[in-house]
Amino acid sequence: MGIKVLAVANQKGGVGKTTTALSLGAALHRLGKRTVVMDLDPHACASIHLAHYPEDLTHTVLDIFYAEKDALPELWTRVLNREEVPGFDFAAASIRLSELEMDLKSRPGRGAIFKEALELLPEDYDYIVLDCPPHVGVLLVNALVASDLVIIPIQTDFLALHGLRLIFDTIRTLNRVLPQPIRFRALPTMFDRRAGACRRVLNLLRKKLGDKMFETVINLDTNFREASAKGKVIYEIDEKSRGAIEYSLLAKEIIAHENA
Ligand SMILES: Nc1ncnc2c1ncn2[C@@H]1O[C@H](COP(=O)(O)OP(=O)(O)OP(=O)(O)O)[C@@H](O)[C@H]1O
Ligand SMILES: [Mg+2]
Repeated sequence: MGIKVLAVANQKGGVGKTTTALSLGAALHRLGKRTVVMDLDPHACASIHLAHYPEDLTHTVLDIFYAEKDALPELWTRVLNREEVPGFDFAAASIRLSELEMDLKSRPGRGAIFKEALELLPEDYDYIVLDCPPHVGVLLVNALVASDLVIIPIQTDFLALHGLRLIFDTIRTLNRVLPQPIRFRALPTMFDRRAGACRRVLNLLRKKLGDKMFETVINLDTNFREASAKGKVIYEIDEKSRGAIEYSLLAKEIIAHENA
């Protein structure tokens, strides 16, 4: 079946990208999939969440962008951390990732650097989950180009629908130059079933996106906030919580889809 790269992306901020990357990574691991989560956001939220503080790190995904091809397999072993809990491997971000834009400006093929580097990973993984930054740029492009599937978390409120076009425009622009179109599916997040507005947004999304939406819906769950405050994933807070169960459903939906 080969490695599957899942990029979690939306240019809209605060829609649940980082929560999805970490929770889905943990869910895939719990289903027996060899999984690595990588933080491609200069804000390093996922890294800080897992207590990898940018100021203390000697090796981050940033190094991968500057490495010679020959050096990559060994460099990956330094960049990858084994997280006993939640169980996946993890590659942390550097705040200097924000400088990549300038540094790579004149590098030919700069959008495919990460895709090529992932081919030299020394470990056999089933899934690579990429947490993307909330803005367009060379990092997002590298993540999208490397991906087999883009997961687009969409917060189910009306304001969140504004700005949603941005991510679809980015995908469409890239598809004009890529040999294969980027596959994507939207994931409704922070759904509040008691709120009529939320239900209307969900119906609207289903109508507009059809099978480009996951069946799984991630509901509001205060356990996510508690998890991030404690530097844990939701399974460590309460594996029977709604949020934990829903990310397991999402993982199963993704696995089933690959096998279909
Ligand atoms: N299903 C949920 N229920 C309740 N809170 C949630 C849920 N998903 C995420 N959150 C909370 O919402 C906030 C934003 O989530 P998160 O950091 O995952 O978004 P993001 O898209 O990665 O943001 P950014 O664009 O800044 O990177 C966090 O405090 C997180 O704990
Ligand atoms: Mg984030």
